[in-house]
Amino acid sequence: MMSGSLINLIYLIAGILFILGIKGLTKPKTAVRGNFLSALGMLVAVVITLFTINDVDFTYVIAGVAVGGIVGAVMALRIQMTSMPQMVALLNGFGGGASLSIALAEYVTRTGINPASISDFLQPTVVAASAFGEGAEATIALVSISLTVLIGAVTLTGSLVAFSKLQELMKKSYGLPGGPFGNGILLLGALAAVAFLVINPGNTMAMVAILGLALLLGLFLVMPIGGADMPVVIALLNSYSGIAAALAGFILGNTVLIIAGSLVGTSGLVLTKIMCVAMNRSLANVLFGKMAAGGETIDADEIYDGKVTSAQPDEVAMLLETAQRVVIVPGYGMAMAQAQHAVRELADAMVSKGVEVEYGIHPVAGRMPGHMNVLLAEAEVPYDKLVEMDRINPTFEDTDVVIVIGANDVTNPMARDIEGSPIYGMPILNVDKAKTVVVIKRSLSPGFAGLPNPLFAMDHTLMVYGDGKKAVIEMTTALNQL
Ligand code: TAP
Repeated sequence: MMSGSLINLIYLIAGILFILGIKGLTKPKTAVRGNFLSALGMLVAVVITLFTINDVDFTYVIAGVAVGGIVGAVMALRIQMTSMPQMVALLNGFGGGASLSIALAEYVTRTGINPASISDFLQPTVVAASAFGEGAEATIALVSISLTVLIGAVTLTGSLVAFSKLQELMKKSYGLPGGPFGNGILLLGALAAVAFLVINPGNTMAMVAILGLALLLGLFLVMPIGGADMPVVIALLNSYSGIAAALAGFILGNTVLIIAGSLVGTSGLVLTKIMCVAMNRSLANVLFGKMAAGGETIDADEIYDGKVTSAQPDEVAMLLETAQRVVIVPGYGMAMAQAQHAVRELADAMVSKGVEVEYGIHPVAGRMPGHMNVLLAEAEVPYDKLVEMDRINPTFEDTDVVIVIGANDVTNPMARDIEGSPIYGMPILNVDKAKTVVVIKRSLSPGFAGLPNPLFAMDHTLMVYGDGKKAVIEMTTALNQL
């Protein structure tokens, strides 16, 4: 048997590996190594934990590792880049479900209820005074167990709904009749059951109530939220799964689970906050409403009528040939058109003609964090050509042509200039500062925020109407012929 301090030292090393792993994940170049370090940390933590507990039946452990490992590897190998959010949603749900199972198992073990007998579960049971420890220790144990059940269950059903929405298995939005108030009542009910269980540990019905209400709460929290807002919800559920794991660490007295859970909990919250700030929306607005209604109604006709200039791909190619510096700004439409490879080929054609080409990346362009980076990396665009918003913005004034492909909201000057606008304050890419702006999209339809974009009506903007991939291929062909 290992000494307690040696175990804690090894747990600390695992914790350091997790932190180095997360740090590595912040840059594409170090992301693979970061992922490896985190996985190594988890392996160390699991192996050491197995050494610390007595009476382990290794048949179950080996069977679990084999089945889980094979299923995980097959899922990871087969998943398409575009389906990554669904996979993350599902894995969050598994995390919540695992913590929930730990808490229920601990409750059943400590109370001595026969887990195979439903009738045992449905009637109050006499629990030995010391089942959960003495005094404060018992309170901590009961609070940890019941909150883990609550948060784990919300994460489980919430994540399954998020998965179903992203996989388009659930196409509509449903909610409780009372909306946020209905959810508030479910939450208050579950918290009351938590308090009741802490005072009466043997009242199994309180445990059943926490479980039932929390499973419903997870469903009703996520069902009304639109598919496009799902990345924010997934980051939040990711954070919940971490909190549930950290609480499960308290139940088991396992330091490394507390560390890992806290890291997931806080990093999920930080990501949620970053996304909300980059979209200039409050979390409450994402969870309980659509984009904030505008102060005054914005009339698209008034903005566009008679002011929009369109162009053909071959006309744009002539502009590109004479340009010195071009910035490509991708958005959700590039992902929809799967135009990333065509975009790289256009950039290659420009570079071969001596044009300096960079990509301007907005933090919430597309529909998931890093959406554009992932797509462009898949098309083998060099990382150093992807320039973040804060660094690319000051360069637009010295840019001859900006090609906006399938991006809309992230370039909308209303966010910067019109105080009453619903997106006022959302940081944008200042593409309108460039000498010429070329916008490739199929029509003048709005983007995610549902707003017209005055950029399209500016004197130095040319609209190229069409599918993103087709238009870019035509531009490249024309440029190569010049
Ligand atoms: P959007 O503002 O949504 O605009 C995308 C544009 O792509 C649309 O106006 C559409 O116009 C065009 N499009 C669609 N299919 C196309 C195709 N096949 N070829 C060419 N164009 C096509 O996108 P954005 O500028 O990337 O902004 C992202 C928005 O999503 C922001 O409002 C952001 O807050 C929100 N959001 C982002 C995230 C994350 S984490 N990234 C999460 C939730 C919400 P047409 O129909 O005229 O072609």
